[in-house]
Amino acid sequence: MNQPIIKIENVWKKYDMGSVEPLVVLKEINLEIKKGEFIAITGPSGSGKSTMVNIVGALDKPSWGAVYLNGENVSNMNESSLAFLRGKTIGFIFQQFNLLPTLTALENVMLPMEIIDQDENKSKDTAEKLLNKLGLGDRMHHKPNELSGGQQQRVAIARSLANNPDVVLADEPTGNLDSKTGKFIMDFLGQLNKEGKTIILITHDLELVKYGKRVVYIKDGRIEKEIHN
Ligand SMILES: Nc1ncnc2c1ncn2[C@@H]1O[C@H](COP(=O)(O)OP(=O)(O)OP(=O)(O)O)[C@@H](O)[C@H]1O
Ligand SMILES: [Mg+2]
Repeated sequence: MNQPIIKIENVWKKYDMGSVEPLVVLKEINLEIKKGEFIAITGPSGSGKSTMVNIVGALDKPSWGAVYLNGENVSNMNESSLAFLRGKTIGFIFQQFNLLPTLTALENVMLPMEIIDQDENKSKDTAEKLLNKLGLGDRMHHKPNELSGGQQQRVAIARSLANNPDVVLADEPTGNLDSKTGKFIMDFLGQLNKEGKTIILITHDLELVKYGKRVVYIKDGRIEKEIHN
């Protein structure tokens, strides 16, 4: 219980900008996230939140510093074993939903299970159960452009849970939704946390920050402060 599921150590991220000075967007970030936490990461637009969570979720690499996922240093792993570990450990939810437009809801939810070589019948069964749980039983064979924004985000949540990951990482998950759908999604994340999942929520919305038991404030690429609710 006490071993961090994710740990990042002295992480820096810079972008080389050709002729102008490199842009340093993350500076000296240290963060440990333990199993079962509900952590909210907040800060102004452009402060580095998305950059940081992409590194926390091992979707992107730091320019300097180390990232440990379940105790393993991800820089020592090759791309395919990292994809496997990430696929099993973390589910992602994004502001823009990021569903594949040519696949149905059901196929989108099955995709993460394909990445870890899950049996197809079992994947289909799991995807159907998840979509039913999110109230989309009658929309499984629709493609994303045949779904409303709130429905697409519920498909994305189902997809994030496909491999029953320890961690759900949500970057502005309600940013494009009306407040009622937003509340449904936040309550759903709260319920997942009660069931033991680690939730990492990125939001610039101070109303949503309240859902986090621990809140990390980012400013100009640095952790400015941390509070416990
Ligand atoms: N590929 C890139 N090349 C150069 N600069 C980048 C790149 N990606 C992001 N940045 C810059 O890094 C900074 C941090 O961006 P980031 O997306 O992490 O901010 P954010 O806190 O998530 O903002 P928002 O609340 O608007 O989503 C910004 O100034 C952005 O312009
Ligand atoms: Mg962002």
